[in-house]
Amino acid sequence: MNTPALYLADPNKLEKVLELLQGLVLTAETQRKIRDVFESEMELGLAKNPPVASSLQMENTFLPELCDGSEEGDYLSLDLGGTNFRVIWLSIKSGAVINEEVQYYQVPEDVRLGPGVKLFDFLAECIHNFMDGRQLKGQNLPLGFTFSFPMTQRGLDVGILVSWTKSFNCSGVVGEDAVKMLNDAIHRRGDTDVDVIAVLNDTTGTLVQGAFVDRKCAIGLILGTGSNACYIERADRIEKWEGKDKGVEEVVIDVEWGAFGDNGVLDFIKTEYDKEVDRNSLLVGSFTFEKHFGGKYLGEIVRCVLVRLTKEGLLFQGNASEHLLRHGAFTTRYVSMIEEDNVNGVDVNTTTALKELELSFNQEDIDIVKYICWLVSDRAAILVSICTASLLERMNRPETTVAIDGSLFKHHPRLKSFMEKYIAAMAPANKFKLMLAEDGSGKGAGLIAAIASRLKKLQAK
Ligand code: GLC
Repeated sequence: MNTPALYLADPNKLEKVLELLQGLVLTAETQRKIRDVFESEMELGLAKNPPVASSLQMENTFLPELCDGSEEGDYLSLDLGGTNFRVIWLSIKSGAVINEEVQYYQVPEDVRLGPGVKLFDFLAECIHNFMDGRQLKGQNLPLGFTFSFPMTQRGLDVGILVSWTKSFNCSGVVGEDAVKMLNDAIHRRGDTDVDVIAVLNDTTGTLVQGAFVDRKCAIGLILGTGSNACYIERADRIEKWEGKDKGVEEVVIDVEWGAFGDNGVLDFIKTEYDKEVDRNSLLVGSFTFEKHFGGKYLGEIVRCVLVRLTKEGLLFQGNASEHLLRHGAFTTRYVSMIEEDNVNGVDVNTTTALKELELSFNQEDIDIVKYICWLVSDRAAILVSICTASLLERMNRPETTVAIDGSLFKHHPRLKSFMEKYIAAMAPANKFKLMLAEDGSGKGAGLIAAIASRLKKLQAK
């Protein structure tokens, strides 16, 4: 079931509801326009002297190659950016992961929003705690650092933060090298022995992890708190890359599509709900595309729609509960739960969610809420599919696996099937497979540390 129809007893009410939801429907023409804009922004982002600035950073990740199967040893990785901070220990033998341990840490809000030095001290403390509990002290393990924010990379181990996004906004980090700040924090402690040899984006980690299990993997995509993708680009098409190494034919480009539209090029898709979500967000006016469907925002979009419809007397007999009026109260988890009801043709999860929100509701309210959750989920799938299809056509490989990580993709019951349908229609000549790369962003960091160590050893010879 893909397009649930909405039936309401009163045709006038139905008309009013559909009118207020109209902006969330992306027509074929709008979809074409988004795709054209995305493709021209990609070109501008790769250009040396673009006539106008692109909203797509198209960052060179300096990842020289993927795993070749000869990686060996023990590696640590850190994964910072989404809902949890993770420390991972990977043991690799002949290119295969033989052991893996993960520990999750919650980053408290005052650390996410406080001085940057405190954030990096916190990360160093977690590394210490992790190593201490596993008798890893004194081993000087190579560490790969997944830092899932827009960075300017000057090499595999230099990442200058361009701006914060999602739920982080620490002072004193923008314009600084995240690797140096982490190393400084580790040295300040003086009791933790690691060697930070690579910094990467979560999409890059996901691509490397994906390619580790499936050689056809050429796109790493995140659909979590935020959203973004990286892909393999021909070096000769990266006009802005000065000092291009001779002999390098391909390079992994981090698109940073979360910020797509920050220069106004996507204003034509913004609904009143998207504008409200932006107004209430931590970093207003930035990360336009991501705010249309990222896990941090999807539930909030639905909440804004519900509040508007209630104010118009079209839902809950015109009575919004205090709960519903609170920012963030309608979580993305609810959207996934309600979408499960849509899949199963039942109301059980929707009823639970509305009760938890202390709303009084009838069957028509349930039907409208289910319809809205389908609509925003469908729009999410269309938006991600447009960009993914563009990347597939751009690379034009006979077959491509897209490795996907992130809480939204993992927990939403049918984003994957929506995306399969849309991408197939939007890039009909390019065979593809969507593959969940669980913990890809974290594991990928360990693998990149392994690749970097292998290359370092080769250079030393
Ligand atoms: C944000 C970050 C980006 C990351 C994405 C997914 O968009 O800027 O670097 O890949 O979130 O976590």
